[in-house]
Amino acid sequence: MMQERLEQLQSNALRDLGNTSNVADLESWRVRYLGRKSDLTNILRGLSDLPLDERKAVGASANRVKADLEESLRQKTEGLKEEVERKALRGDEAQLARGDITLPGRVFPIGRLHPLTQTLHEMYDIFVSMGFQVVEGPEVEWDYYNFEALNIPEEHPARDMWSTFWVDNEAGSGEKPMLLRAHNTSVSARVIETMKPPIRVIEPGKVYRYEATDATHLSTLHQIDGLVVDKGITMADLKGTLYEFARRYFGEDRKVRFRCDYFPFVEPGVEMAIECLVCSGKGCRLCGNTGWLEILGAGMTHPEVLRRGGIDPEVYTSFAFGMGVERPHMLRHGIDDIRLYFGNDLRFLRQF
Ligand code: DAH
Repeated sequence: MMQERLEQLQSNALRDLGNTSNVADLESWRVRYLGRKSDLTNILRGLSDLPLDERKAVGASANRVKADLEESLRQKTEGLKEEVERKALRGDEAQLARGDITLPGRVFPIGRLHPLTQTLHEMYDIFVSMGFQVVEGPEVEWDYYNFEALNIPEEHPARDMWSTFWVDNEAGSGEKPMLLRAHNTSVSARVIETMKPPIRVIEPGKVYRYEATDATHLSTLHQIDGLVVDKGITMADLKGTLYEFARRYFGEDRKVRFRCDYFPFVEPGVEMAIECLVCSGKGCRLCGNTGWLEILGAGMTHPEVLRRGGIDPEVYTSFAFGMGVERPHMLRHGIDDIRLYFGNDLRFLRQF
């Protein structure tokens, strides 16, 4: 009878053990079947009350059951531990498949501004600090703003100063020819029409030239034009402004020279040059032995250009200038091939 109880107890215990699936279950199982208040413990405790012969037999069986249950518990505990570890490992493997989590993080390449963009920003800063405003105009332009409004009528020989890309479209074949702007002075023509003096603007952007590409020529390049219109503007304002620009961009001590030049939209027209950055005026290959490097064109805006745009030249006077963006950067950094700016070679671009 006692033997049957033990057998029943053992089979119940093993069945329940089979259903445990975590450490907490295991612990309550242990308390239930092997704890101080369990049936088995009670049976063992009550052994002394049994008659001697029965005591021996039941004692042996109860101890066997106890040992058996303890061993089963140990194995089950072990099994559970292994399973937990396997799960953790599977988690790690999944991690590993996504990438080695122990590797140090990768450095993401960070982009930078193109040297020409940097140059533009630097030039904006200089002019903005002098009170200029930045304005933009269209790259596909009417012949009118690129030439006509700037005192360069059709058939005027000065048109040859710009090798122009003409746009072949409905409008282009009709009365109003179109082109890719050959200089940003076209934006000045628009500003004169649309803005009221006092005007102090710079006009940055791309311009297009119908030219073969070589180390010093591109068919697309950048320019910044400038325009100042107010009462009493004189050549002294022009010189002061452009001196200041040259000083800030090329350095305090750089000598600057103005000489007469011709542009149909200014009178008088000038060209500004800086002392050669390589030979400091002694004469070298870069400056063609002159000691000077031409940087920009400028002049007092022609009264006819103001009048056409609706500004009375008897009341207002104006100066204007136009310069490249690539060339000043090339000169400052000793770069001898303009094509590098558009070659997308990171070894070149990363230097700036
Ligand atoms: N637009 C001229 C060029 O591309 C440069 C220029 C000269 C602009 C004199 C001006 C100026 O505004 O006054 O060659």
